Amino acid sequence: MEQIRTKGRMEKGKKVLLLLFIISIIGMLVFMHMDGHTYYVQAHPTKRAPPPIKPPSKNKSKIPEASYSITPIKDSNHFMVSAFIDHRLDGVIRVISIVNRSSLQPLYCSYCSTEQVCKTVDTDVQIHSDHFSYTYGASDVICKGEHMQNATHVLITTDKEGSVDHKMEYLPIKNKVVNETFKFNFTICISNLFGDYNNVLQFAQTMEMYKLLGVQHVVVYKTSCGPDLEKLLKHYETEGILEIISWPIDQFLNPARGWNIKRHKGDIQYFGQLITLNECIYRNMYQSKYILLNDIDEIIMPYKHTNLPSLMEDLQPAHPNIGVFLIENHIFPKTQFEESGKFKRAEWKNIPGINIMKHIYREPPQKKNYNPTKMISTQEKCSKPQYIPR
Ligand SMILES: *[C@@H]1O[C@H](CO)[C@@H](O)[C@H](O)[C@H]1NC(C)=O
Ligand SMILES: *[C@@H]1O[C@H](CO)[C@@H](O)[C@H](O)[C@H]1NC(C)=O
Ligand SMILES: *[C@@H]1O[C@H](CO)[C@@H](O)[C@H](O)[C@H]1NC(C)=O
Ligand SMILES: *[C@@H]1O[C@H](CO)[C@@H](O)[C@H](O)[C@H]1NC(C)=O
Ligand SMILES: *[C@@H]1O[C@H](CO)[C@@H](O)[C@H](O)[C@H]1NC(C)=O
Repeated sequence: MEQIRTKGRMEKGKKVLLLLFIISIIGMLVFMHMDGHTYYVQAHPTKRAPPPIKPPSKNKSKIPEASYSITPIKDSNHFMVSAFIDHRLDGVIRVISIVNRSSLQPLYCSYCSTEQVCKTVDTDVQIHSDHFSYTYGASDVICKGEHMQNATHVLITTDKEGSVDHKMEYLPIKNKVVNETFKFNFTICISNLFGDYNNVLQFAQTMEMYKLLGVQHVVVYKTSCGPDLEKLLKHYETEGILEIISWPIDQFLNPARGWNIKRHKGDIQYFGQLITLNECIYRNMYQSKYILLNDIDEIIMPYKHTNLPSLMEDLQPAHPNIGVFLIENHIFPKTQFEESGKFKRAEWKNIPGINIMKHIYREPPQKKNYNPTKMISTQEKCSKPQYIPR
């Protein structure tokens, strides 16, 4: 169906696949070659995104809420992550989930309104085709039914009767209201921090560059990181630009550290990157005008505009039907250095990590190879109900 493939080499023919994915998020897509200015445009419907965490609610409603961003689905090998009303699909509930593809079984949605009136309905389980052959894949579980807009909580269950068990944890339903006033102009979703990643210098330089480029909101999904980076994350969280979403996937599954199952064994590709990126898109759907999905070692640098929002304000009217823009990656190797050494600063000597300012040389574009891309989705296109998936 739709997914995001951010890593890995793809052949030309697969570009369309990538497009499709994104599209699903937005509706439409453009392939943008920064050098050649060639645009491939594809029309298409939309979908998908990844997880939230909410502290258990006080007592507004007595429905027990999930406390973590990953919640096991009872009597199954699957997990649910977060739930959203999808206003593009007549207000159905979409639950972003992690599904064991080897133990597929019928799943049901049990959804409740504030009055604790619950109802159980069938689902359409949409497993993303981009699972890289790992057992677990990102999946959208669509609750089939009407008039779900009043629901506040939902859970996925294997019990068709949906006997209400108030010990089970429900997901609060997000995006209940379509908001046309965006809180942020530009959000960046960074998929998964894990291991003892402690690249403080690069992280700080990148965050500061994002700020200069007009980014107001950065979301990271954190499984784990090194001690110095932990402090830096707190700093940016306090400052207000950074939202940290805890992503304890390693407590439930054995996540692979890459996307190639031959080289990286595990239950799921790259710490569940496709799930977190999808969740991030839905989570920010009515919050941010533009959403960029990229890695912390990547910066999209406009060269004719002073910042990213103004780049988009030009690009978008030029391509009014486009919901997603893809931007080709280019590598600035860390083996090549700026000659004068002017960025080798004494005060950074003891800071762990890479000083990206020393690496100013770009690898020549490889015309023959497929270059991976990053996507910027424009949420105005995304949230308008004119695209009817499927
Ligand atoms: C919520 O719980 C608190 C303490 O348990 C209680 O004092 C308060 O009245 C409750 N509020 C509602 C709306 O039930
Ligand atoms: C996925 O499902 C298969 C088939 O039921 C099961 O053997 C396997 O243990 C499951 N994987 C995990 C990690 O639970
Ligand atoms: C949803 O709530 C509104 C306002 O409380 C009510 O008028 C409407 O009938 C409810 N819809 C359904 C399907 O329950
Ligand atoms: C819409 O978003 C704006 C900006 O974040 C906020 O002030 C407003 O309360 C939101 N409106 C609704 C209906 O949620
Ligand atoms: C978003 O962009 C608009 C238009 O450039 C600007 O007026 C507004 O202040 C920006 N919002 C934020 C949160 O920076």
